[in-house]
Amino acid sequence: MPRVYIETYGCQMNVSDSELMLGVLAREGYSAAAEPSEADVVLVNTCAVRDHAEQKVLSRLGELKQVKRPGSVLGVVGCMAQRLGPRLLERVPQVDLVVGPDGYRGLPELIARARGGERAADTTFKNWEHYEDVPPVRETATSAYVTVQRGCDYRCTFCIVPMTRGPERSRKLTDVVREVTDLARTGTTEVTLLGQTVNSYYDGTHDFAELLRAVGAVESIRRVRFTSPYPTDFTDGVVRAMAETPPVCEHVHLPVQSGSSRVLKRMLRRYDRDRYLGVVAALRAAVPGIALTTDIIVGFPGETEEDFSETLSLVEQVGFDDAYTFKYSPRDGTPATRLKDAVPDDVAGERLERLIALVRRLARQKNVGLVGTTHEVLVEGRAKRGEFLQGRTRTNKVALLAGRDSWIGEYRSVRLTGTTGSTFTAQPLGRGQELAVVG
Ligand code: SAH
Ligand code: F3S
Repeated sequence: MPRVYIETYGCQMNVSDSELMLGVLAREGYSAAAEPSEADVVLVNTCAVRDHAEQKVLSRLGELKQVKRPGSVLGVVGCMAQRLGPRLLERVPQVDLVVGPDGYRGLPELIARARGGERAADTTFKNWEHYEDVPPVRETATSAYVTVQRGCDYRCTFCIVPMTRGPERSRKLTDVVREVTDLARTGTTEVTLLGQTVNSYYDGTHDFAELLRAVGAVESIRRVRFTSPYPTDFTDGVVRAMAETPPVCEHVHLPVQSGSSRVLKRMLRRYDRDRYLGVVAALRAAVPGIALTTDIIVGFPGETEEDFSETLSLVEQVGFDDAYTFKYSPRDGTPATRLKDAVPDDVAGERLERLIALVRRLARQKNVGLVGTTHEVLVEGRAKRGEFLQGRTRTNKVALLAGRDSWIGEYRSVRLTGTTGSTFTAQPLGRGQELAVVG
């Protein structure tokens, strides 16, 4: 039986795409290998969003050359593959094939050609491609990623994704519901719906509000999450659907990018600071206790100290539960590369440090305030250090608790007993006390 090893970088959609690739290859008789040295085919699923992500892959490809078996096939897939295409074959001689996000159906054929000594790249966009007939091979049973939308039609000036993932298209609601129903039958109780602007989902008939309600109504689905939404696509209907669909979790990742309306405009984001704050207020009013996380870029061309201080003040005003913070990384072919007034690297670096310090301080403050409250956690597995189980609250907080392996995949009521500032320790509640659980 041939074996494939897939290494995944980047976002959750890449994780989901790797599950699809395993599905494509499983149909051809492949099974998964745990190590690249044991595989007949090694695939690296890549990210192109920042230069750093690409550099990491390039150095990893050097290592894989050393460990891979003689005669095995090495492929680069995903967003960096799409961005560089055949150039990657020229640049990295040990790479046998290069496939973008719409080409995974063709992997078996390209692998066969690579075996025959032919190196090839497939970076054709197929705006109909949803891999509807491919059953993903997932690692975890309890919680599943379900891609509902591919591509992106927004044109944020810093972002390479529209160039690597092609035009936006949504799967049919009935197809999504069928997949979730099948998952629920085999023990999945938590699903995370994925799309680049997931709440702009529209299948020609149904919008994201309808999708949330339909997925939330699938029997034995206990938690519904989604990522990443776009702020202005939180219509009243979507917000109401969140509030009225009990399985929809009280957490939203709401990328803001900047707190300065002037910078947001240059980024071609479709909201200004006030509009963003309006979305935050609407979510908080409809979903009490909702946790909010975000993405922020510092050092975007033209960002002044004053612009940056508006980002700091927005972060403080919203009081995010957490934030992913990035230094702007110019991406070839994106409109922002033509903007003047680049921010010097040391200035951007110093801003990033100040931002991270603020994000950490606010997160700690928020989390200290949660100690003593009770939550339902889904027990995901053993924590890294092994002696504790790791659970996740509906608000997406990680809590460590003592317990048995048989709890993995189950829901438990816990009281949060302490925090490191980012994660928690927790105590399972006895029966009877569970009635007191608030969220
Ligand atoms: N639609 C996706 C965006 C994917 S990129 C989503 O909303 O999650 C993920 C994050 O990477 C973005 O939100 C942005 O904060 C960051 N990012 C994207 N392009 C970048 C660039 N050129 N430099 C630095 N950060 C970037
Ligand atoms: Fe990128 Fe903006 Fe789309 S961040 S993925 S272009 S919504």
